[in-house]
Amino acid sequence: MGKVGLCLAVGCALASCAIAAVMVGRRVKSRRRWWNVVRALDEFEEAASTPVGRLRQVVDAMAVEMHAGLASEGGSKLKMLLTYVDNLPDGSENGTYYALHIGGTNFRLLRIQLGGQRSILGHDVERKPIPQHLMTSTSEELFDFITVSLKEFIETTNGANQIRGKDLGFTFSFPVKQTSLSSGTLIKWTKGFSIDDMVEKDVVECLQKALCRTGLDMNVAALVNDSVGTLALGHFYDKDTVAAVVIGTGTNACYLERADAVIKCQGLLTSSGGMVINMEWGNFWSSHLPRTSYDIDLDAESQNPNDQGFEKMISGMYLGDIVRRVIHKMSLESDVFGPVSSNLSARFVLSTPLMAAMHEDHTPNLTEVAKILEETLNIKDVPLKVRKLVVKICDVVTRRAARLAAAGIVGILKKIGRDGTAGITSGRVKSGKSGKMRRTVVAIEGGLYLSYTIFQEYLNEAVSEILGEEIAPFVTLKIMEDGSGIGSAMLAASNSNQNVDTNTTVQGL
Ligand code: BGC
Repeated sequence: MGKVGLCLAVGCALASCAIAAVMVGRRVKSRRRWWNVVRALDEFEEAASTPVGRLRQVVDAMAVEMHAGLASEGGSKLKMLLTYVDNLPDGSENGTYYALHIGGTNFRLLRIQLGGQRSILGHDVERKPIPQHLMTSTSEELFDFITVSLKEFIETTNGANQIRGKDLGFTFSFPVKQTSLSSGTLIKWTKGFSIDDMVEKDVVECLQKALCRTGLDMNVAALVNDSVGTLALGHFYDKDTVAAVVIGTGTNACYLERADAVIKCQGLLTSSGGMVINMEWGNFWSSHLPRTSYDIDLDAESQNPNDQGFEKMISGMYLGDIVRRVIHKMSLESDVFGPVSSNLSARFVLSTPLMAAMHEDHTPNLTEVAKILEETLNIKDVPLKVRKLVVKICDVVTRRAARLAAAGIVGILKKIGRDGTAGITSGRVKSGKSGKMRRTVVAIEGGLYLSYTIFQEYLNEAVSEILGEEIAPFVTLKIMEDGSGIGSAMLAASNSNQNVDTNTTVQGL
């Protein structure tokens, strides 16, 4: 080989080495970026973890806070509100009743025909989305929209007939300080609603005036939180139902309490010796909750910082947004999602139903995940391993939410001595086992629980895990679809003059 040939050969070898070095360098870098993302996921998973030991701490904290909220006004972040429901439907109610439900993204109109003997002869439901602008407008605009819709609904379901049942159940799924079964003032808005002129106003009065303006001669016989409606329907079917939970856009629970345990209302007299308490558990807080940096940011940027902390880890309004935040952070720290998409900075762009669709994508190549990433977040051509990572993020967020809700449920059971332990007295958790366990039913309603199978499985599994195999068989979780509205119509029925044969008492206390 001549000199020139040698130089050429050496040059080529050097060039190949340089190319190889660049390629290896790139591969190492891209691997490093991938491992960065995997590490970020591991850290998130660790911070959001809910081993059974931690869940038991949440159970105890819930029971203790319930006690504190019942002991004094403002004694806890749990408001433990009186509902004035001391008689729950028992199946003997008769007649046709209407109900209205305002609460989340949709509002519902209902008509039920009760035939006594635990029978519902017919029921119609209409769901309507609440136009976004009405959630932040004025109370008049919101209520006029609702009563006009009610009028149309009555005309469709009842034809030209005179309305026989004039008593209306009103499910209003926000924190309300009730002054009687059919009156109460709004404490604050949650779930993205914000109509300033309504805060501290009597919500029934607002509705009653709007009914008048619309020319509807109806009487609001019961003002009911959605969790209370759910409990009412649960009790209608099964007298062992002692608590109800809603897991939808927001989350909440209520349960039957002994009147003498409501220390903040000494001498509270009820015909049954008990009362349904609206816990407003969305506002529960405890240092045992596994809070991550994403939760802190979500809270700080929300309409109600430092409020509804439990709700922000559990309910449908927020889960999708937590997932979006995790993907956003990963995308900023690595290029596994390609160039950082501006959609990732938009709050609530990834809704919880879309997140659930990614989580429940059973296609071999996760095509649904790819589609949602592209269409909603504008993240294109994501390799399969990154799609799997997205599914894992959805899983961590959902699992934590479902397991925390499960701990909340067991917390209620503990407070009323239905978890097989000795319960709590004077605000202290007692250790040891109680005597005989009674069959106990918890009614559950809300779109997140009803339509998200994995969430449901995680929650049910965690309730059994916390209770243990000896106690778990005594506790049944029962779905009460539309319970929030139907139950409210039933409470209107049990408290109506129309209904002659109602004389029931709360059982199960
Ligand atoms: C409200 C509760 C309601 C729950 C479920 C929460 O944001 O404060 O009153 O029951 O959502 O709808």
